[in-house]
Order: sequence, then structure tokens, then C-alpha cells
Amino acid sequence: MRRKLAAGNWKMNGLRAARAELDTLEQRHGDAGVDILICPPATLISACEDTPFDIGGQDCHAAVSGAHTGDISAEMLADAGASYVLTGHSERRTDHGETDAMVAAKSQAAYDAGLIAVICIGETLDERENGKTLDVIDAQLAGSIPDSADEENTVIAYEPVWAIGTGKVPTLDQIGEVHAHIRKCLTERFSDGDGMRILYGGSVKGSNAPDIFGVPEVDGALVGGASLKAADFSPIITALENS
Ligand code: PGA
Repeated sequence: MRRKLAAGNWKMNGLRAARAELDTLEQRHGDAGVDILICPPATLISACEDTPFDIGGQDCHAAVSGAHTGDISAEMLADAGASYVLTGHSERRTDHGETDAMVAAKSQAAYDAGLIAVICIGETLDERENGKTLDVIDAQLAGSIPDSADEENTVIAYEPVWAIGTGKVPTLDQIGEVHAHIRKCLTERFSDGDGMRILYGGSVKGSNAPDIFGVPEVDGALVGGASLKAADFSPIITALENS
């Protein structure tokens, strides 16, 4: 049985006062029947450590340490209290030119530090409109996941780039098609590929979460905007618990 996962990605949002949102979330979901992961900005990881939730970084460097001004290693995230890290988010791929090979190296660094990597993949609107979605997914899966991935250290997040922060969501059939394809690829490549969790991400809200969580092979969500406020994230967690 794959444990369901509700993951919040705060991106570059949140000052120290935002920590209070997690107190509200704890009152409602302190003993949730699903895993809850919060990925705040790195500056808040230590402050979030004493919550009942799993805490994650949003990126890590592929190296353990060294002359990389401004970067953070996976070991540092773990030391600050993180147990997960996002790798290959489309905003990192776009803003920082991260390639599949770089994402694989970062994910391996995460494993080496004892972190679970949430490896993000997804097609652009142009790729979808040109019928290339599954080819793009194949290439990203092949290039971004290290050979040492397993069901314990890896979660896959399918996030169509055109659905992130736009309010546009693929149809349930489209989500189902890609998730089924990802599952097939994972089970072909990894002996425990059936145990790896696959999240959907992109404009998930309380209103669409129940339908999305009803799609086969959707094991949870990676949520951006709607994870910033407990009042918005809570209905998504409840929908996952009820799915
Ligand atoms: P969104 O972001 O929920 O705001 O669309 C999702 C993500 O980028 O992880």
C-alpha cells in the first residue's frame, strides 16, 4: 500500500510569521491519516522542525559542500530538520537551466544525505499541443531519476508546466493517462516501482482535489499557492484522507 502524501511547496513565500499557519494546520491535521509535507523557504526549515509534519527543502546542490555561493547542500537541509527535498521543479528547470542530468545528480545527493527526493516532471503547453507529452515524460523519467531510486527514497510529482499557478487543470482523463504511463515506466525500470508514490501538481485546490484524488495512480498532490494558508491547504488534506 502506498501512503498518500499531501505536499505543500511554499516557493519564495513566507516570513517567520508564516510559521503560525502550521499551528492551525496542526490543530486540524496533527494526526492525519496521510503524510503531510511542507516545503517552506530554506530560511524557515529550522523554525518548522517542531511540527508533526515532514519538512522539505525546495532544491539542493549536487555537491556535499564547497565553493558554491548561495547554494545549499542536501546534508545542510537534513541538518536543519528536513527529511525531503524537491528536485527538478519546473521553476528550477526554467529559471536556473536545470537539465535532467542535473536533477538526477541532485536527487542522488538527496539520497546520500538520507533525504527523500520529490522528483518533478511535466510537459509545457507547447509540448502538449504538439502531442509530445508522453515522449517528454519518458525522457524526463529516464534522465532525472537515479538508478538507485527506490520506493523509500523517491516520490515522483507530475506537474504540467502550463497548470502551475495558472488555475488551468488537465482533464481527469489527461491526468489519468500520464499517471498510468509514469507507473508503467517505473515498474518496468525498478523492481519496486509499484511502491513509488506519484503526486499530481498544478493548480490543485480544495474544490478540485476530490476529483483529482479519485484518479487511479494519483497518490497525493504537490500544492503551491493553496498550501500557503492552512485554510486553503486543509480541505485538500481532508480530500486526500477521504479518497
Ligand atoms: P500551484 O503550484 O499549486 O500554485 O499551481 C504547484 C507547484 O508548482 O508545485
